[in-house]
Amino acid sequence: MKIGVDYYPEQWDKSMWRRDAELMAKTGVKTVRLGEFAWSRLEPADGRFDFAWLDEVIEILTGYGLEIVLCTPTNCPPLWLYEAHPEIIQVGADGKRLQIGIRGHRCINSPVFLEYAKRITDAVAGHYAGNPDVAAWQIDNELEAYPCSCDVCRDKFRRWLLGKYGSLESINKSFGNSVWSGEYSSEAQIQPPTAYPKAWQNPALCLEYSRFTSECTVEYIGQLKAVIRGYFPNVPITTNTWFCENMPDFYKMFGKLDFVSYDNYPPVRIPENPEEFYSHAFHLDLMRGIKRKNFWIMEQLSGPTGSWSPMSPAPKPNMIKGYALQAFAHGADTVVHFRWRTAATGAEMHWHGILDHSGVRNRRFTEFEELCRTASKLETVRGACIKSDVAILYSPESEWAFKIQPQTDGFYYLEQLKYLHRAFSDYGVNVDVISPDEDLSAYKIVAVPSLYINKESVTENLYRFAENGGILIMTARSGVKDSCNNCVMDTLPTVFRELIGAEVTEYDPIGWREQTIADRYGKTFACKEWCDVMKLNTAKAYAEYTDSFYSGSPAVTENQYGSGTVYYIGTVCKRDFYADLAGRLLKRAEIPAYENLPVGIEITVRTNGKEDYIFIFNNSEQDAEFELTESMYSIIWNEQRKNIRLKPFDMEVLRQ
Ligand code: GLA
Ligand code: ZN
Repeated sequence: MKIGVDYYPEQWDKSMWRRDAELMAKTGVKTVRLGEFAWSRLEPADGRFDFAWLDEVIEILTGYGLEIVLCTPTNCPPLWLYEAHPEIIQVGADGKRLQIGIRGHRCINSPVFLEYAKRITDAVAGHYAGNPDVAAWQIDNELEAYPCSCDVCRDKFRRWLLGKYGSLESINKSFGNSVWSGEYSSEAQIQPPTAYPKAWQNPALCLEYSRFTSECTVEYIGQLKAVIRGYFPNVPITTNTWFCENMPDFYKMFGKLDFVSYDNYPPVRIPENPEEFYSHAFHLDLMRGIKRKNFWIMEQLSGPTGSWSPMSPAPKPNMIKGYALQAFAHGADTVVHFRWRTAATGAEMHWHGILDHSGVRNRRFTEFEELCRTASKLETVRGACIKSDVAILYSPESEWAFKIQPQTDGFYYLEQLKYLHRAFSDYGVNVDVISPDEDLSAYKIVAVPSLYINKESVTENLYRFAENGGILIMTARSGVKDSCNNCVMDTLPTVFRELIGAEVTEYDPIGWREQTIADRYGKTFACKEWCDVMKLNTAKAYAEYTDSFYSGSPAVTENQYGSGTVYYIGTVCKRDFYADLAGRLLKRAEIPAYENLPVGIEITVRTNGKEDYIFIFNNSEQDAEFELTESMYSIIWNEQRKNIRLKPFDMEVLRQ
């Protein structure tokens, strides 16, 4: 496995380059990402390119055997470009252009910006074409589905919407624009829904706008990719992503790209309250699931974080190393640390890299050296993949729609997914997080929480999965909306009624209040946020409410459908309920599981068809100890192990 670093040579005196390269190579670094924000150095004036400095850096780095990831520097246009063409700056919800001098403020739809972005990309790619040390390309940085309200974006949105619906009448009808006299009588009346209060915008318009802005990002990526591909026919191209406010559709965004790369900053504080969400592994599984392929970390936690916010605590001993290895455990093959050196200037000087400002080898550096040694021991695991019997389905459209209209206090879409992800992964089984459009036939258990927006092909996919014998878990707020984000005028969960064999007679959004349900085995569990009051058709009750005016009504149902079984959880529970259900279902599906793992122990298996590699990670602040049923060979310690003893944030890797 490979460890890399993000390096910004343009921020350092050139006398440091060789020393840095030498130390990187000596430490065991294999990959260096370069050029991400260096536009003003690569093109100091309009059309005047300067590659001499980057040539020198690359020559030094590759001379030490390091491979390079090149970036398009397009996140940060130089100030001369903004000055000459202020029209390329994004416009905010207030109708004003953003203040420049920070970063990322270019409008990716601006034809002028695009022309310059393609030209600098062409220049960099053309200059380094044929360089065998370029291992990968990164397009831009942390692209979002930007809600820009500039004239170009607004006109493009109007054309896009009309292209999709054909006429203003059709938009009016589909959006229900008679509400609040919102009917369009001319194209010019269509506005991006960026103004506040957002909650008063038409949800149909908002969802289309999310789709539109996401598509614009995908289109932008496609344009830069085409330029790079012209010079680098075989080098893989990616963009580095994260969970941001304006999330593009990951599946569509990476559909155009060769591999997924993720900026991985796990929280350094482990919550004391077990109900508090902490499922970092969920993010990694989601990243792997985007292309159902191994992925990269393009930026990895390296020290205390903070720049626009106060600084976080320092990562505890073993965290720098442990969280990089955790990414390997979930299918990353390369982990690139952000950053080699902590910036001494600029806004990010307190977002720490591996080396502190002093450059003195510190505790984190020593740990990083150890990580590099461990990664090289794991070389045989590179390329080995993760096969899972359990999948959680993530729908970008449902996520957008829930952001547009929050349902009840405490209810967040991603957390509904994390509950179920955590429930299964606590038994040490692999879990995939994938799109609802994927082929589900290889899975035994599929959980699809709160599938809010209906799509016919997805509905069919779920029916087919159950019909063919799968165990399907659905939850409250499924089947609620049509593809326009309008409420379906039918009894909930509408298109899934037959599948779950039950229906919702009414619902109670209880928010933070807690109530209780009792399952058919006599156990009681707390529930919160939402209560669907259920009526059984072909289903049986799995659990019932024990209080409020619907005491005695089913809360969780179980239905035989085809040769499969479908569970519907009409409420939101605490972790114990999901853990209990997951335990039963794993047994029923005959999926091998670890019972009673110590809290925080995460187990995943990567396989290359010949051998299995078992990763055991202690993601907790306590020492952990447990015994395996048979002894296995430890790649870390080069000996057989049966008794697993792990210090906080330690990883064991066994071969079977
Ligand atoms: C993001 C960006 C980086 C850097 C880091 C830390 O992940 O991609 O450029 O800003 O945050 O601040
Ligand atoms: Zn714009």
